[in-house]
Amino acid sequence: MKQSGTIIPEVTQVKQPALEPAKLSVGGKAIDLQVTIGTEQEKAIDITRLRDSTGAITLDPGLGNTGSCTSSITFLDGERGILRYRGIPIEQLAESATYLETSYLLIYGVLPTRRQLEQFTTTLMGRTALPQGMERFFDLLPKTAHPMAVLSSMVQLLSGYYPELTNPNPTAQQIDEVILTLLATFPTLAAYGYRKGRGEPVVPPRKDLTYTSNYLYMMFGPQGGKPNPDEVLVQALRQILILHADHEQNCSTSTVRLVGSSRASAFAAISAGIGALWGPLHGGANQAVIEMLEEIHRSGADFSKVLAKAKDKNSGFRLMGFGHRVYKNFDPRSRILKAACDKVLVRLGIQDPLLDLAKQLEEAALKDDYFLSRKLYPNVDFYSGIILRALGIPTEQFTVIFALGRLAGWLAHWREMLLSPEFRIGRPRQIYVGPTEQKYIPISQRD
Ligand code: COA
Repeated sequence: MKQSGTIIPEVTQVKQPALEPAKLSVGGKAIDLQVTIGTEQEKAIDITRLRDSTGAITLDPGLGNTGSCTSSITFLDGERGILRYRGIPIEQLAESATYLETSYLLIYGVLPTRRQLEQFTTTLMGRTALPQGMERFFDLLPKTAHPMAVLSSMVQLLSGYYPELTNPNPTAQQIDEVILTLLATFPTLAAYGYRKGRGEPVVPPRKDLTYTSNYLYMMFGPQGGKPNPDEVLVQALRQILILHADHEQNCSTSTVRLVGSSRASAFAAISAGIGALWGPLHGGANQAVIEMLEEIHRSGADFSKVLAKAKDKNSGFRLMGFGHRVYKNFDPRSRILKAACDKVLVRLGIQDPLLDLAKQLEEAALKDDYFLSRKLYPNVDFYSGIILRALGIPTEQFTVIFALGRLAGWLAHWREMLLSPEFRIGRPRQIYVGPTEQKYIPISQRD
């Protein structure tokens, strides 16, 4: 990695053997389509010229079989339960790396040297304060606003203080600047949103703490006379942030890429990503899992009723924290978190009936043919909620923690997209199935 004021990307290009083209026949017309192969041997049929040659597009609602880009950031294999950031298994990062080290890896493609990490950390921790005057905007928001709405709005507002960083054609230096700005201020925005929402005074950031400790400190202030947050909590949160840091082309990351592809600013793209993450089918699932477990607990822990409801397509209810678009055997992140969960509760001396419930529910679901046949296993959100509860994080803040972790991935994808030779505005097509041409009828003639 070269460093001359700014960090220059070095994308690994591994030469792959040429594959036979795929043959497709549309309306009697045969065409050859080029096949692309990734470094992990995943194959894709390149259909970029399909419409020009045949007049047909591909149809893939939910985009479950569509590659929207090539990417060197994260590899995941849902069948084998593999997740790697820049080739490094998630288990190793969760065990040993810091969140900022992981962020650097995701964004710049390599593990930082000790000196690079120190420089990155010091610069970033020196910029955690919000721009002067911004704090008052938190007071203007309704106290009923969801923390994700607050976070999303504040990220957009932040752009107002950095007009030069909204340049539609940012220089490499401006890209680095906006990445630093967002990474540095995001925990402050999240923690200020929490405290202001409760009508409490904010706790300003501290440069001498780690990224994770500083966030907990801004959330809760000094605890029990101790100036710094408890190390057990810090380590558990560090692990959660790393496990959530990236997950290739998920709903919110695809949103960040799509919004960024119009050359809207990183602030706009990240703010939109927060909106996408909020939903209960995505990041909002961690909040929904706890609400579901609380409800099961209140109603006497009758699993058969819950499972029956989840299986009933008319109920509109799904077993929260179960199932994944990509993982079809197990989610490697949930394995790590399940083990971490036991450790954290034991070390903090917490007995949480919801953890026992979660384990029993998992056991019951995994014996049920409905879940087995559909390959529905606990995902990352199933156990993260219990850990976050143990850390004293209020339920409605859970998705904010997900966003805090995912920010590194969003920024890595935004940067990769802008610097890629593939860059093009994202604009899917559709197949129109509405009425064919019809005449406008004046209102006087419509009854
Ligand atoms: N509870 C009950 N049934 C579920 C289910 C759940 N959590 N998740 C999926 N299913 C069922 C679907 O109803 C469908 O059944 P069918 O084949 O009989 O119609 C089948 O499993 C496939 O589901 P589908 O909706 O096509 O999967 P998807 O890939 O589009 O959705 C999720 C993936 C994650 C959105 C989905 O599993 C879900 O809603 N999970 C709960 C929310 C959650 O935990 N989200 C966090 C993801 S990290």
